[in-house]
Amino acid sequence: MFAALQEAGMIDMDNTSYLKKLLADVGADASIEDVERYEKDYQEYVSKIKLLRGQHDPYFMGREKEINVALKFLGKDDDKIKCLYIHGMTGLGKTKLAQQISAYYGTEYGLDATGMRMVRLHKVTSTLEMGVIILRELGMRISLNEYDEDILFETLCTRKQRTLLLMDNADDLLCPTSQAADNFKNQLSALLDCKNKWLKLIVTCRFPIDFVHLTQKDSFLPISVQPLDELDSIKLLRKASRPPDHVSPLERIAKRYLDDQYAKELAVVCGNCPKMLRAVASRLRNGIKPSRLLETLSHPDKAHVALRTPPEEDEGYFSMGDDSNYEKDVLPKMGEMINDLSQELREVLIRLSVFPSTFSDRDVAHVLDRSEADVADYYLDDLKNRWGMLEGEPDYFEQEQGPKWYSMHALVRTSCLRECYGDQNSKNIFHDALQRFSTACRTSWTRSPDSPAPTLRRGF
Ligand SMILES: Nc1ncnc2c1ncn2[C@@H]1O[C@H](COP(=O)(O)OP(=O)(O)O)[C@@H](O)[C@H]1O
Ligand SMILES: [Mg+2]
Repeated sequence: MFAALQEAGMIDMDNTSYLKKLLADVGADASIEDVERYEKDYQEYVSKIKLLRGQHDPYFMGREKEINVALKFLGKDDDKIKCLYIHGMTGLGKTKLAQQISAYYGTEYGLDATGMRMVRLHKVTSTLEMGVIILRELGMRISLNEYDEDILFETLCTRKQRTLLLMDNADDLLCPTSQAADNFKNQLSALLDCKNKWLKLIVTCRFPIDFVHLTQKDSFLPISVQPLDELDSIKLLRKASRPPDHVSPLERIAKRYLDDQYAKELAVVCGNCPKMLRAVASRLRNGIKPSRLLETLSHPDKAHVALRTPPEEDEGYFSMGDDSNYEKDVLPKMGEMINDLSQELREVLIRLSVFPSTFSDRDVAHVLDRSEADVADYYLDDLKNRWGMLEGEPDYFEQEQGPKWYSMHALVRTSCLRECYGDQNSKNIFHDALQRFSTACRTSWTRSPDSPAPTLRRGF
C-alpha cells in the first residue's frame, strides 16, 4: 500500500502527515505505527543509497585508470555473473574506489536503490552470516536458522533486475587464518559459473586472492589499489587543506603556507595514502604548520597523534567518509594487521623495516641471518602474496637468476617502527637487524673491485 501511495505521489519519506491525520481521525492507531515504520525504513534506504554512491566527494582524486578498467569489465553483459575484486592496504581507498565505480555504473544504467546494494562484511567471519546479510539486503526476511546456501544461489542466479552488489570489507572472511576463506572462494567461484548477466559484484578486501579457480575466470577481475600518484596526492593535500569559505580573507592568506617542497615531503611521509593525506590536510586546515607536522610525522611513535581524525571533523564539511563510523584510524588498524601475523612473520617484518627503500632477497638474508632460498619462498612471498604487506618490484635488470626485489609501503614501515617504541622485544629485534644491516653495508662497500657487484646499493 505504501509503495502504491508513494508511486502516486501521495506520500513520501517526509510527507506522511496527511495520511497520519486521516488514520488518527478514524482511530487506526496501529496503522500509524506502520507509517512510522515506513518512514524509518525509507530513511535508512535513502541513506544507504547515498552511501553506495559515495556521495559527492569534492576531494576525490585520481584512479581514472582503475575506474575505466572496472566499468569496461562490469559493462560487458555476457551471460555470466561478474565480480570485481578490489584489494590493497587499509586506507588506500578501496571502499572509496568501489563507491565511485558504483556511482558511475549506477548512473550509466539508471539504477535505483533496489539495484544498488551495499553489504557490509566488516567483522563477518562465516559464509552463513554473509549469505543472510546478502539476502536481507535484497529484501528477503530470513533468519540464520532458515538460511541455506541453495537459497542464496537461487536468489542471486535468478535475479532478473540489473543489480550491483557492493560487498565491502571482506577482510575477516578472507584473512589467511580465516576458517571461512576456502568456503567463500569456492562459493564465489561457483557463483561466477552461474548464468545471469544482470548481477555484478564488487568485493573489497585488503588481501589479494590467488585461488586459480577464480583468477582464471574471465568473469573475475582483481584490481590492486596502490597509493595515489604523487601529483594527485599533492593536489589532494592542497585542496583539502584549504580553509572553508566562511573563513575571513585575512585568515585565508595567513593559512596559505603549503609550498611545493612541504607538499611533496608531506605526501612522501604519508606514503601517498589518501586516508593519511586527508588527516594531514585537516590538521593543516586547522592552522598547524607543515614544518611541525613533518617533524611529528617523522617520529613513528608520535605519528598517530598527527593522523588521528579530530573528533569535530567526523561529520560535515571535512568528513572522513561515510565509513568513518566503523573504520578505525589507519595506523592503529595497520598495527592490528601486523599483530595478526604469526610471531615469526611479525619478527621478519620488524627486521625488514630497517630498509628505507627497495631491498632484494639477498639483502634480507643478511638481516634475517637465513639462507636466500628460505627467505624468498617462506617469508617474502608469504608477506607479499598472502598478507599484502610487501610489494614486489619489477625486475629492472632482467636477470634470469638475479635477486628478487621488494619494497615496504611507508605505512607498514611506520607501523613496524611504532611497535619498536612500545615493546622491548620488538626493539631488540629491530636493533639486531639494524646491526646486521650496517655490517652488510660496510662489507659491500669495502669489497675489492673484482668481487661480485654488491646488492645493497639501491636506496641505502
Ligand atoms: N582517490 C581518493 N581521493 C581522495 N580521497 C580518497 C581517495 N580514496 C580514498 N580517499 C579517502 O581516504 C579515506 C580512506 O579511504 P577508504 O576507501 O575508506 O580506504 P580503505 O577502504 O582502503 O580502507 C576515506 O576518507 C576516503 O574518503
Ligand atoms: Mg574500506
